[in-house]
This record gives sequence, C-alpha cells and structure tokens, in this order.
Amino acid sequence: MRAIITGVGHYVPDRKLTNKDLEQMVDTSDEWITTRTGIKERRILDNDKGTSYMAAKAAKTVLEQRNISADELDLIIVATITPDMPFPATAALVQKELNTTKGWGFDLNGACTGFVYALATASQFIETGKHDKIMVIGGDKMSSIIDYGDRNTCPIFGDGAGAVLLEPSNDNDLGVEDFILHLDGSGYKYLGMPAGGSLLPASYETVKEKKHFLYQEGKTVFKYAVNGMADVATKIMKKNGLNAKDIKLLIPHQANLRIIDAVANKMKLNKEQVIINIDKFGNTTAGTIPIAMSEAYEKKMMQKGDWVILSTFGAGFTWGSLLLKWAMD
Ligand code: UT7
Repeated sequence: MRAIITGVGHYVPDRKLTNKDLEQMVDTSDEWITTRTGIKERRILDNDKGTSYMAAKAAKTVLEQRNISADELDLIIVATITPDMPFPATAALVQKELNTTKGWGFDLNGACTGFVYALATASQFIETGKHDKIMVIGGDKMSSIIDYGDRNTCPIFGDGAGAVLLEPSNDNDLGVEDFILHLDGSGYKYLGMPAGGSLLPASYETVKEKKHFLYQEGKTVFKYAVNGMADVATKIMKKNGLNAKDIKLLIPHQANLRIIDAVANKMKLNKEQVIINIDKFGNTTAGTIPIAMSEAYEKKMMQKGDWVILSTFGAGFTWGSLLLKWAMD
C-alpha cells in the first residue's frame, strides 16, 4: 500500500505587509530585504485569529476539492510552532472548525521541517493500512512571535497555512517513495523562542526582556541550512537512482532566496525545476512547503507520475527531504 496526495490547498490572510511598510517601522530598506532574502511582502493574520483559523481554511479547501466530508478523516496532523495556545492542540480546534468529532489528531513541532515530518508520519499510517484519509496541515502565525522592532527578524517571516489529503493507493509507482529526516539538538541555541515554556514560564521579566519573541542567529542558521538542505536532497536522489533531469520539481522551504538558489545549484537543477514564492509570503515556517505545493498544483507545474522532492531546514536543528511521485492529474 502506498500513500498518495489526493488533495492540496492553502490559505493566506489578505493583509499584506510590504517592504515599504517595514521601512516605516524599522531601520531597513526594500533594497536590503530584496537582495538579502528575496522577500517583497508577507501576509499578516488578524490579531483576533490564531493558526487554527488558517489551518482549517486550508483543510476546507482540500475537502471541497476532493468532495468529501470531514467525517471521513481518520487523523488530523497540524505541524506548527505557533499553536493557538499551548493546549489543547491546534488539531482539536481545526477538527471543531471542520464540524466533526470523528477520528483523532495531534500537533507536531518540527519548526520549518514540521510539514515534512508530518507527511512522513502520516504516510506510515496509510502504508500500514491503519488509516484511509489523513489531513496533513502545516501552518504558522509567525507574526504572533515576531518583534516588529527587530530588523534582524521582522522582514523574514509571515503567516499562512497549507494542507494535503493523504490516501492509500494500490499503484506502487505513485506517492511517497522515500524520506530522510534529521534532528540535531545541538543547534537549539541558534533559533527559537526562549520563554513561554516550562523552562521559562511567562513572567514580568520574560516579557520585559522580549523573550517571547523569535530569536535567530541568522548567519549560522544560513550556513547549516544550505548544507543541510542540499545534502539531504542530493542523498535522497542518489539513494533512489535519480539524476537532476529526472526531477520535475523541487519544493523547498522558503526561508531565503539565496538558500534556495544555493540548494538548487548544488542539486544541479535549473530555474524551471524549482518553485519559489518567498517574494509574496516570506517564511511561513511549517506553511511554506504545503503553500508552495498548492501553488505549484494550481500552476500545473507537475503532472501525474512526476518526481517531486521536498527539502527543508529549521529550528532544532531539524531538516529533511521527502521524495514522492505526484499522483494527481
Ligand atoms: O526557516 C528557518 C531557518 N532560517 C533560515 O534559514 C534563515 C537563515 N538566515 C538568513 O536568511 C540570513 O542570515 C538573514 C536574512 C537572517 C540575514 O542576512 P545576512 O546576509 O546573514 O545578514 P547579517 O545578519 O549578517 O547582517 C548583515 C548586515 C549587518 O550590518 P553590519 O553588521 O554588516 O553593519 C546587519 O546589521 O545587515 C544588517 N541588517 C540589516 N540591514 C538592513 C540586518 N538586518 C537588516 C535589515 N535591514 N532588515
């Protein structure tokens, strides 16, 4: 039994925050942000809404596309680092919004690798025959943990979510073929949010010291990201006997255009083999890959039977690649 993607969709908020807007907020310029990151604008969710709002919207699009009811879902996995609240899980809130009490679900914290971790996890429940329909969602409201007074981080991130439906297929030549996943906890100190967990619960001091915002040592993460993403993507190609020309599309995590270009170069891919939408949405963390996949599907960038590679790197450090044969028409 193979796990195939039978539906894909995404949701991004309407409100745009442009580089020009950021010029009014911090000491930066459109030119710096564009050349250093490739980002022109990002989307910002309303204050009174959480990640579950975007996740449920993305999931509803997929259910409508596939023309099935949420009652048919066996499992909902939400990859996110910005849950609506520490608990209950965002998956519970999504399930409620989808108006069903069927199945089960959980959140998965893999940072920017969250969606790939979730897809790999979900594929196992399908391949074992345990489940028939799994909604895999990746999404983050990064604006909820960004300090809009910090020019090092505020231009990079945005809000958004994407979702896919995973189902079984008897066609052994389609769907999730392989994945290589990594975790190296020694990287924890370079990217994260220091407070708000059990180690450093919210207090007057943690708020005053801005410890509830994302912290990143950009240059260090950049180096690890290029090497990690390129290494794992080339390994998965080699392991499966594939060359650059065999790959229809690389769907990379959208953290920095320079990272994507470097990874594509190392994989010897040309521009047409890579989907890039970082200019419009910035880094939506667990949202980048399913949003990009949804846009690639809308643009008909891959056909049934095409090889597609996902590759990503994020906080933890976490990183990985997933190889699949596209199964939708
Ligand atoms: O998704 C999870 C994984 N995350 C990543 O993959 C992100 C990896 N890192 C990056 O993408 C890049 O390191 C950044 C985009 C975060 C930063 O780019 P950089 O080329 O590494 O810049 P930098 O941090 O080394 O800063 C270069 C200069 C500094 O000035 P000095 O010290 O050379 O005078 C910064 O102060 O640019 C300055 N700078 C800015 N200038 C204008 C930093 N941020 C800004 C800004 N506008 N927004």
